[in-house]
Amino acid sequence: MSTADSPSSPLRQKDPEVAAWLQREDRRQSGSLTLIASENHCSAAVREASGSRITDKYAEGYPNKRYYGGCEVADGVEELARQRAMQLFAGAEDANVQPHSGTTANLSVLMALAGPNGRIVGMALNAGGHLSHGHGKSHTGMMFQAKQYGVDGHGRIDLDEVRRLVKEHQPKVLIAGGSSYCRHIDYAAFAAIAKEAGALLFADIAHPAGLMAAGVIPGPIGIADVVTTTTHKTLRGPRGGMILAKKDVSKLINSSVFPGSQGGPLVQQIAAKAVAFGEALRPEFKAYAQQVKTNAAFLAERLLASGLDLVTGGTDNHIVMVDLRKLDVTGQQVEERALAAGLAVNKNAVPGDPRPPMVTSGLRLGTAAVTTRGFGRDQIAQVADVIVGLVRGQDPERFRGTITALCEAFPLPQ
Ligand SMILES: Cc1ncc(COP(=O)(O)O)c(C=O)c1O
Repeated sequence: MSTADSPSSPLRQKDPEVAAWLQREDRRQSGSLTLIASENHCSAAVREASGSRITDKYAEGYPNKRYYGGCEVADGVEELARQRAMQLFAGAEDANVQPHSGTTANLSVLMALAGPNGRIVGMALNAGGHLSHGHGKSHTGMMFQAKQYGVDGHGRIDLDEVRRLVKEHQPKVLIAGGSSYCRHIDYAAFAAIAKEAGALLFADIAHPAGLMAAGVIPGPIGIADVVTTTTHKTLRGPRGGMILAKKDVSKLINSSVFPGSQGGPLVQQIAAKAVAFGEALRPEFKAYAQQVKTNAAFLAERLLASGLDLVTGGTDNHIVMVDLRKLDVTGQQVEERALAAGLAVNKNAVPGDPRPPMVTSGLRLGTAAVTTRGFGRDQIAQVADVIVGLVRGQDPERFRGTITALCEAFPLPQ
């Protein structure tokens, strides 16, 4: 239920049109299942902080060094978020919680470490990387000299290929991390490759950050020079970004965020990040993260047993990538069928995908949001069977009842 549901809601009274849209989104989320790997459902406490009055406050600068008066609360909130972030990612030497998003965090890092027109190396989008790692359509591919590595025939990062590219291109920054890469990344090996070429290692953990914070999969803290993340995926916080940096580069990073690429921070989002980090420090979050991983492994097992192909043949994190290339169906078609059944999934290119990005031959599935609803093995088995049925061309209407029953039995947490 949203606050707009309450008859005394100021939004409902003052702007029924927007209130109606937001109520509709509430119904959409509660009446369907989110298997989009980059989404989650944050808590009511996070949403309350994000919608709080501190949204009015300008606080350009950093705690105790602001360009505006009246920032004592913003200082306290930002410092709390920073301290919790460094507790959560133990070993991080500095935290910048101001980036408005993962993309702006990445731009700030690359501008700080590579400089204008500097050389960078990252993973290609169609191999599982992210646009902001040097893709030609992203400013990171226009403002820097970017080269990109792919994956091997099994969908895994080929460290020899990364080493070869780094030797050849001599980048200032090597990027490790991606949006649809479902296997562990050997950060120590990446660091060694970067070191051989005198480059800095930048790890983008936007996707698996929550699993790393909970210690259920290995992460790059203490290995990479800089780590960025979003706060809204497996970390289950508000929409936003964060940068964790080693002390020797953190000054550069901080001035690249402000004044380099942003003005006033979104203090309401920083407050909500502090709440989410506080939640992630609790033992329940570790159990949650473990369940996200267990659910993804079981989803992968069940899909494989039904005869579907998976990129890399399984998963080490929350992402399962279905490879539809051998079947007479596209990612786009399955995405549409899934929506009709009440499942939000996303089409996604698989490595070597012959189809265009708006069509694709893959599906990216993630277990973070359904695990927040309380899903375990039985529910994942039902979801897997629905996905297999949809891929095989069965009528989505057939599954609507199953999905509705699951939504009702596992409501969104308030
Ligand atoms: C690895 C990675 N980095 C960065 C981002 C960008 O985050 P945002 O959408 O907040 O800009 C994403 C988003 O999906 C991502 O997967």
